[in-house]
Amino acid sequence: MDQIIVTGNGPLKGEIPIAGAKNACLTLMPATLLTDQPLTLTNAPRLSDIRTMTALLGSLGAEVASLQEGQVLALSSHAMTSHRAEYDIVRKMRASILVLGPMLARDGVAEVSLPGGCAIGARPVDLHLRALEAMGATLDLCEGYVHAKAPSGGLKGAVFEFPVVSVGATENALMAATLARGTTVLKNAAREPEIVDLARCLRAMGAQIEGEGTGTIIIHGVQALHGATHPVVTDRIELGTYMLAPAMCGGEVELLGGRIELLAAFCEKLDEAGISVEETPRGLKVARKNGRVRAVNVRTEPFPGFPTDLQAQFMALMCTADGTSVLEETIFENRFMHAPELTRMGAQIEVHGGHATVTGVESLRGAPVMATDLRASVSLILAGMAAQGTTTVSRVYHLDRGYEHVVRKLRGVGAHIERVKEEAA
Ligand code: EPZ
Repeated sequence: MDQIIVTGNGPLKGEIPIAGAKNACLTLMPATLLTDQPLTLTNAPRLSDIRTMTALLGSLGAEVASLQEGQVLALSSHAMTSHRAEYDIVRKMRASILVLGPMLARDGVAEVSLPGGCAIGARPVDLHLRALEAMGATLDLCEGYVHAKAPSGGLKGAVFEFPVVSVGATENALMAATLARGTTVLKNAAREPEIVDLARCLRAMGAQIEGEGTGTIIIHGVQALHGATHPVVTDRIELGTYMLAPAMCGGEVELLGGRIELLAAFCEKLDEAGISVEETPRGLKVARKNGRVRAVNVRTEPFPGFPTDLQAQFMALMCTADGTSVLEETIFENRFMHAPELTRMGAQIEVHGGHATVTGVESLRGAPVMATDLRASVSLILAGMAAQGTTTVSRVYHLDRGYEHVVRKLRGVGAHIERVKEEAA
């Protein structure tokens, strides 16, 4: 397994291009199953999760051609050979569950392995299933698989209120509703930019959707969808992650393609902490001119609140802030695994249930640390960039799921970072 070795150094300077959003692409790709016409996605990120989704769609008979070094994906599912998403692929990536709604809507049948939990929580899929049942689907759980069938006339429009906001369940229901007979109203729907991006793509494919980005989405079912070409929205989590690099190391970095509206709540917290964020014609310029950042409290919430996917990275910033900050994680039950690793670097963090209290120290010290999940891995790299001495991050395969060319991008603004093969134990 590879390791990343990073040495703390001074202020950063330069620019970082931000890629297309992993979490948008992972729901846009299964949308190809809604039509037998070709779907082309541009601005696609080059990530291992995208390759996993490609393999999953391939196992169903869909074709996914990766063009222009992976930045363009040409998808087509006119020749489906299977409606069964196997456990050995689904267990690698929970977003695999997003093939369920589209297959059910178009072909009336789907068998999808339950994804199982992951490091950050149990992550059930009950809301996905309940929304599809509301549209008339019959679902049986057997040997770890969901066996789904639509009524003989196809799914039917329904009014469904999500008891809790769920990004994935909203995406599955939204895709399924595009081909249902009649109108579907999704209440307490997720409002993330990735949902808005999916709705835009589905509309380009002929779907009739209104209200995306609000808590209520209305979908008028149509007979069939056609192909489209759609640009994947900018990755707001990659954006926020790299905005923290100058915030932690000092200096000034421009994030190309960044837009404040993608992460306004996050930018407000950066402002409170004393970091300047300025919109430019090419993106966002972030700078920490002088002095320590100020400690601020954070509570993760569904969009438009502070994103849970930036909680680990923001904790790294708070480790050397002036004062004490409390980070409350309300979305996932086990998303503080980066805290013990940051503590190895000298951070002072106390975790009690869903709260982490961080007492800022003058400086962190480099140490060997271990990545535990995708977002924790990058928070350790950010901490290593701001620490005194050298930090070795192991198990960086987590990183490859969600960050393309992370060494190249950070080197480009002056970070002392390299990726090496782990010495055999
Ligand atoms: C998506 O996961 C993202 N993944 C996650 O990003 C992100 O953290 C999460 O949304 C929240 O924003 C993708 O888009 C591929 P949820 P998802 O359904 O859809 C509970 C990353 O780092 N829940 O909004 O799985 C669930 O347990 C990843 O890129 C149910 O109880 O998240 C959680 O507590 C990590 N039943 C809460 O809802 C369900 O059926 C929110 O989960 C579904 C979810």
